Order: sequence, then C-alpha cells, then structure tokens
Amino acid sequence: MKFFLSFITVLLLMHSSVNSQSGTAGTKPYGSPDDIAYAEDVWEAMTGLRLAGENQLHGRFYPGSEPHGYVLETFDTKMSIQGTERRVLIKRNYGPEGVAPETVAVSPEGHLESVTVMIKRDSGYDTQNLDWFWVKYLPGGAVAKDTMGVSQAGRLHKGSDLGCIACHSAAPGGDYLFTR
Ligand code: HEC
Repeated sequence: MKFFLSFITVLLLMHSSVNSQSGTAGTKPYGSPDDIAYAEDVWEAMTGLRLAGENQLHGRFYPGSEPHGYVLETFDTKMSIQGTERRVLIKRNYGPEGVAPETVAVSPEGHLESVTVMIKRDSGYDTQNLDWFWVKYLPGGAVAKDTMGVSQAGRLHKGSDLGCIACHSAAPGGDYLFTR
C-alpha cells in the first residue's frame, strides 16, 4: 500500500511538472489582451505619423517574395509608443503574385494584403530573441489571427520552427533584420 501511494505521488508529480511546462506554453507567447492592446497603440502611433491608415505616406515600392508580399515597402523609424521612444520597422506587403511595383504604386490601397511590424521593446521582454515585439495587421489595422484564431501580436511564433522569430533569427547581422 505504501509503495502504491508513493507510486501515485510520483505519477502526480510527473503530471504536475508536465502541466507546469505546458502551463507556461499554454498561455501562448503571443495573442494576450496586453499584446493586442500594445499592437493597437502601435497602429495608432503609426497612423499619427501617417505611416498607416487612410492618409499614409509612401516610400519605394520594390519586388518581394513570400511570406511577405510580392511587392514591398519598408520603413525603419522611431516613434513614441505608450510614452517611450521605440525603433519600429514597418513592412507593407502587397499582392497578388506577379503584380508589378508600378501597378501597386498607382493604387496601393487596392493591393495591400497585410502590414507586418517589429518593435524593439525593453531589454528583458524577450532576451532570447533580442526583445522584438512582432505583429501582423490586416490592411485596416486589425491584428491578424493565425489558423488557430489567436491574434498575431507579441513574441510571435516563439518556440516554433516556423514563423516570424524562426525565420528572422537567420537574418545576416545577428539582429533579426534582413533590410538595413
Ligand atoms: C520565411 C521567412 C520569414 C518569415 C516567416 C517572416 N519574415 Fe519578415 N522578412 C523576411 C525577409 C526575407 C525580409 C526582407 C524582405 C525584403 O524587404 O526584401 C523580411 C522583412 C521584414 C521586416 C522589415 C525588417 C527586416 O527584417 O528587413 C519586418 C518588419 C518583418 N519582416 C516582419 C515580420 C513579421 C511580423 C513576421 C511574422 C508575422 C515575419 N516578418 C515573418 C522573412 C520572413
């Protein structure tokens, strides 16, 4: 009986340690209410600077490839978010496949498929991945959802072999940035 009880205890302990691991993973590294609220503030700051929204300014349209758009625009800038000056990289992703930059330039709104953004947060936000906050917006500014219905804002796809962090970690230069 004693043996049996300790066996049960071991099983319970194993179970709870498995749970506490999936417990931290269970609260995903992205898509929390805080992540979404932060992403909304970023969009507002971008709109204020005319980097998003109806009166947005445009830069250079150039050919791109998946998973970003077939035509791209990129901005590397700084802006105040929740009272703190942040480095922000904005990538506007245009399509469909085969579209020419000149065509997009004539009517960017009609070709915009998503806006992907990286924001440098405080050190400690995500030490392992250089403290970037990742977000994917739909053209109108709503945070895009992944296939599981989770909002794509925060430490996006952290721990996965696919997605923002995994792919950008391979960028030359060691800063997760492809364009500079
Ligand atoms: C499979 C690889 C891959 C994935 C996944 C990916 N990116 Fe990128 N990303 C790139 C490449 C390549 C570029 C450079 C494109 C260019 O401008 O030529 C880039 C550029 C960017 C830039 C401009 C800064 C820079 O690094 O040049 C931002 C911002 C960005 N990506 C955000 C995101 C976000 C947010 C996600 C996830 C929702 C994401 N990316 C997923 C490959 C990827």
